[in-house]
Amino acid sequence: MADTKGSATLTIGNKAIDLPIHSPTVGPDVLDIRKLYAQGDVFTYDPGFTSTASCSSTITYIDGDKGELLYRGYPIEQLAEKSHHLEVCYLLLYGELPTAQQMVDFETRVTRHTMVHEQMHYFFRGFRRDAHPMATMVGVVGAMSAFYHDSTDVNDPWQREVAAIRMVAKIPTIAAMAYKYSIGQPFVYPKNSLDYAGNFLHMCFAVPAEDYVVDPILAKAMDRIMMLHADHEQNASTSTVRLAGSSGANPFACIAAGIACLWGPAHGGANQACLEMLREIGTVDRIPEFIARAKDKNDPFRLMGFGHRVYKNFDPRAKVMKESADEVLGLLGIHDNETLKVAKELERIALEDPYFVEKKLYPNVDFYSGIILEAMGFPTSMFTPIFALSRAVGWIAQWKEMIGDPELKIGRPRQLYTGAPRRDYSEVEER
Ligand code: ACO
Repeated sequence: MADTKGSATLTIGNKAIDLPIHSPTVGPDVLDIRKLYAQGDVFTYDPGFTSTASCSSTITYIDGDKGELLYRGYPIEQLAEKSHHLEVCYLLLYGELPTAQQMVDFETRVTRHTMVHEQMHYFFRGFRRDAHPMATMVGVVGAMSAFYHDSTDVNDPWQREVAAIRMVAKIPTIAAMAYKYSIGQPFVYPKNSLDYAGNFLHMCFAVPAEDYVVDPILAKAMDRIMMLHADHEQNASTSTVRLAGSSGANPFACIAAGIACLWGPAHGGANQACLEMLREIGTVDRIPEFIARAKDKNDPFRLMGFGHRVYKNFDPRAKVMKESADEVLGLLGIHDNETLKVAKELERIALEDPYFVEKKLYPNVDFYSGIILEAMGFPTSMFTPIFALSRAVGWIAQWKEMIGDPELKIGRPRQLYTGAPRRDYSEVEER
């Protein structure tokens, strides 16, 4: 728990209640209201948790005004440049960058767990071929608790560790299988000689009929996408994982809940929605029409890939992603990509438009990721599954931290009830 630096007094009627103020290592102070209901007989009201810290955590820090994202204290820009996804996984799970030997051990453990139980192949076959890969992933990841019940005892630290390794190792395999299933191609087994990102690309794009050589440029770009999405503090899907886990539910069930939450277009589903929007806009001359729609209060349309609950300056991940998009398209020799042109022009216009400036709406991580994924050959339906497989490590790290927290309590928010007060049941003929 953070240091307590003093208290604030809240007066309700003639009752004064002292509320401790905690100091985080960085960021705004936090008012501890845990005793508020017991002492003041009131709840707080905060839909969307805009002012509420639901837990204490040592994993990820975001300064939305500065546009800063730190994993265990390390800036995302430095990690994106110098690290790689599996090293970031180690960092998120264990708190420190690994030594060379620790990295080798971790990599070996993850690599040894990349295959899924053979029976899972039959489980996949229960899904319709045209199912969205996210629908398949929610089901299959949830089903991991049926296939790996020897790592579902949340009270056993060893089982928690095994579950974490299994999750990080198998989720690319599951995402690739969901893709292969949806296009009617045979599943491709993991290849342990490849690195994490290269292995995922191989499982997605290789076929038994011919050799497939992973392009190192694409593997690097994929690895960077994974790093940028690896964790993001207490966002909707991570909070879902924590809430599900607070009841003692097993980790696979909790991650399945996180995947379900991520699917929404306001969250991880935005990358698919964003590319579809860019395609719908089609050409640069149609941008003003869409900007006008985004500003129209009577039109539900929003500029996908714009805006963020926390970032009110810029999303540091979007900056790296934009550079990556330029790099990947350049290296692939794609110079006249119309979608990228539309994206860049849309960004330029929106960043100058008073509506977006006043509301502090900036491109988020999803704005450019779809362009890279499309250039790699992924259909839009795979964008959110790739987000999910990248975020799995963040979810499991947050889940592990929560289970090990002596202050863990089952999550149980209260409400501001606005329904009917008590009334008596009326017989049907009297209604
Ligand atoms: N286009 C147009 N207007 C927008 C947009 C947008 N993308 N985003 C927010 N606004 C406007 C809202 O209409 C609102 O206007 P008002 O104050 O006049 O009512 C104001 O900006 C504030 O918006 P809220 O929805 O209250 O902000 P909130 O913090 O709740 O939402 C969110 C953040 C969900 C990300 C929102 O900006 C959005 O829907 N963006 C588009 C979807 C998207 O890209 N999601 C990905 C987020 S990043 C991630 O999950 C990885």
